[in-house]
Amino acid sequence: PPGTTRDGSGGLVIGGVPVVELAESYGTPALILDEGSVRARARRYADGLAARRPNSRVVFASKAFPCTAVIRLLAEEGLGIDVAGGGELTLALAAGADPAGLVVHGNAKTEEELRLAVEAGAGTVVVDNFDDIDRLEKILAGTAAEQGVLVRVTPGIRPDTHEAVSTGQTGSKFGLPLPQAREAIARLRGSDRLRLDGVHVHVGSQILDLAPFAQAVEAVAELGEFAVYDLGGGLGSRYTYADRPPTVEAYLDAITDVARHLLPADARILIEPGRSMVAESGVSLYRVVSVKRGAGHTFVAVDGGMGDNLEVSLYQQRFEAAVADRPTGGGEVCRLVGRHCESGDTLSADVPLADPRVGDLIAVPVTGAYTYALSNNYNGARRPPVVFVRDGAHRAVVRRETYADLMRRDLP
Ligand code: LLP
Repeated sequence: PPGTTRDGSGGLVIGGVPVVELAESYGTPALILDEGSVRARARRYADGLAARRPNSRVVFASKAFPCTAVIRLLAEEGLGIDVAGGGELTLALAAGADPAGLVVHGNAKTEEELRLAVEAGAGTVVVDNFDDIDRLEKILAGTAAEQGVLVRVTPGIRPDTHEAVSTGQTGSKFGLPLPQAREAIARLRGSDRLRLDGVHVHVGSQILDLAPFAQAVEAVAELGEFAVYDLGGGLGSRYTYADRPPTVEAYLDAITDVARHLLPADARILIEPGRSMVAESGVSLYRVVSVKRGAGHTFVAVDGGMGDNLEVSLYQQRFEAAVADRPTGGGEVCRLVGRHCESGDTLSADVPLADPRVGDLIAVPVTGAYTYALSNNYNGARRPPVVFVRDGAHRAVVRRETYADLMRRDLP
């Protein structure tokens, strides 16, 4: 599968480590992240953007993998960190991210969360609505502090992606339509404590063509000249062999070409990739618990599922999968299912697996984005560990939950 190789015995190898060794060390299910590959991706983004637009910055959308180890890694690579709300803000601060590089998002930021952001010295707060402005004015009144803000705009662009992750269309709950955005801009220009740095736009996620990104730049250009244009995230990842997302470079070309024509030459561009920074560097490992044939299907049931990967249930995302501990090739079309109590708990509806047997190790690649983020305890599942691999070495950065963890918040 993408991002992996096989060793002499035919077993899968990730980041120089045989998956058999990872399964023995950490058990299954487990989420493996290839640290070298994430770092390489971050550099590709940062160097690529700097080469095309010197005054610019890549900001990692931490919602794609909100744990301190991943945030620390990307902060170390020099990226800013996008946080949605107080929880991700707290994680980013704990990870040692520079507060000045934080971009604070949310369409329902409470006063407490905004206060946390202001007090932490977060460089940028993205204003989604007029209530954000009221709350920030109140928090900053009577202080000497100034807060940098961007206005999030809803440009009326509907990218070709799953409805649940499209955000730029007219009628979206995110941001302000152009007329209201203009009103917010005017109001912020008159504020003593809020410094309007610019505008923000994010049209959606898992976008596989470049046109919506270019259209988004055109939309924000219409709002006038600013110091900062934050163009959000959204570049799609390659989940299946058939997916052909644009490369990072093609994406950067697309946005910087339009920016060169339509935005002020000295304006700073920010981008906020989440999925495309981490998705392809993650692999989920499972153990086959049961193989059941009948009614036209071969059901291969594993020890994880929608507790650790909600992408299929929520967005009908397609994943490849492979037997990981021995050589395989071809195989019968199987339905790879999880252990949870609903029929939607499928990891892959029709994946070829060669002679699947109980006890086999199964790898589902491209699970680095939004799986850890959306993992849950459905059916009392314990959330899996996160393991970094790099140059043949491995280390857990998040441990597996225990049964005791499941009761930790229960009161007597
Ligand atoms: N910036 C903002 C303001 C966002 O809302 C998002 C994603 C991003 C950046 C990063 O977008 P990306 O590069 O990851 O596409 N839970 C869904 C994904 C929702 C994305 C929400 N916003 C999933 O699991 O597919």
